Amino acid sequence: MSWLISVIGVGYVGLCTSLGFTAKSYKTTIYDNDKSKLNLLRNGLSPFFEPNLEKYLQDAKQNKLFVIANRLKEAINTTNLTFIAVGTPSKKNGTINLKYIKQATKQIGKALKTKKTYHLIVIKSTVTPGTTVNIVKPLLQEYSNKKCGQDFGLCMNPEFLSEGTAINDTLNPYQIIIGENDKKSGDALEAFYKQLHQNTVPIIRTNLSTAELIKYANNAFLATKISYINTIANICEKIPRADVQTVAKAIGLDNRISPKFLRAGLGYGGSCFPKDLQALIVFSKQKNYKPTLLEATQKVNNQQINHTINLIKKTLGSLSNKTIAILGLSFKPHTNDMREARSTPIIKQLLNQGAKIKVYDPKALPNAKQIFKNQITYAKSAKQCITNTDCTLIVTEWPEFKKLQPPDFIKHMKQPILIDARRIYDPQKFTKNMKYLAIGLGKQ
Ligand code: UGA
Repeated sequence: MSWLISVIGVGYVGLCTSLGFTAKSYKTTIYDNDKSKLNLLRNGLSPFFEPNLEKYLQDAKQNKLFVIANRLKEAINTTNLTFIAVGTPSKKNGTINLKYIKQATKQIGKALKTKKTYHLIVIKSTVTPGTTVNIVKPLLQEYSNKKCGQDFGLCMNPEFLSEGTAINDTLNPYQIIIGENDKKSGDALEAFYKQLHQNTVPIIRTNLSTAELIKYANNAFLATKISYINTIANICEKIPRADVQTVAKAIGLDNRISPKFLRAGLGYGGSCFPKDLQALIVFSKQKNYKPTLLEATQKVNNQQINHTINLIKKTLGSLSNKTIAILGLSFKPHTNDMREARSTPIIKQLLNQGAKIKVYDPKALPNAKQIFKNQITYAKSAKQCITNTDCTLIVTEWPEFKKLQPPDFIKHMKQPILIDARRIYDPQKFTKNMKYLAIGLGKQ
């Protein structure tokens, strides 16, 4: 079968998934209700920063594989496989907002009404268990006046890409999860992925709700691993000369544990872990189950903020009128994304306690300016940021910060106090002529 793909929603997941398809020579038609995003893409520009993304976009356009539809109906009429990748943001109570899913589903249903041929609809967005079967399926049937499993197919196929490595993750997934409404839908999507990845990627087939839960279970596990190592890090700080990095390295060699996601520090941020964990907690409670472990994961993550501020206070005393340099603002390196970034609550608390804040980030300064306006000072480089400050705090582990050496801090700062909240420096080198404190490091 020849696949003509459409992707509805060109946020992170939608755009990176589309460019993964075009990179493998599959023509892909995209559509988004936000016309400003479509206009940027028409000009070859990405709505967000992601390494290499604009190059993939350029190639796709040059090869005439990337089609921008003006209307959703056009995207459905010209293709036979549609991925829904619209956003599912959090509501105030932590549940996910299905507004965009419902909107897209209704529009797709209407477009399917006049289609004569079989069309497979696939949910890529992260949605809580039951959403596809209880909300998407009835809406598609109602608006198309067609029968799911017969006239059109329906699958749930969660995405596991990470920001910063998104395109590569799409091109080389370690597994593919297919939640299927019926065998025909599952067979069709499996055939597509087998062709796309030349049969090299393990495929797990299951029902719609289990596929939805797998996505949450995956993110919740990784978040729990981070809170676990942060707990061990906080214990290390109570033990003279103990170091969480050595602990992580050692336990990571046990292949039942693995070394990944054992980097202790300020905790997790971003648009996925905090939102997904919260949604799973609320979902469980709505089903009358209190997920104690997940709540603890969240609590430990929140506590890392105060824990870090206490490290600063331990060396500086009162923060009133002290100038603190913040290196790194994005929720992780190689992105300009500041959603749920740890930098935001840290800066807010430091400001509340009377500190003056100077910040630098290689990519996220424009986003930071929108949040903090003139409350803080924006530096043009890491060295400019640390100059004349009382304390430097590493919030995001950008590679360029790793190049700073002890003499840089000693020469430029008022007093060389460095709080390494992402463990990017070698304590041996940094504890000699300056004050170096780090998460997970016992007194040296
Ligand atoms: C995460 C998952 O890793 C992806 O598999 C998933 O597809 C994605 O969410 C999603 O649901 O869309 P992402 O949010 O891009 O991807 O970022 P991660 O690399 O997972 O990092 C998340 C946060 O955890 C960052 O703030 C990072 O600094 C922190 N982290 C990560 C640690 O504090 N320690 C670690 O060892 C690893």
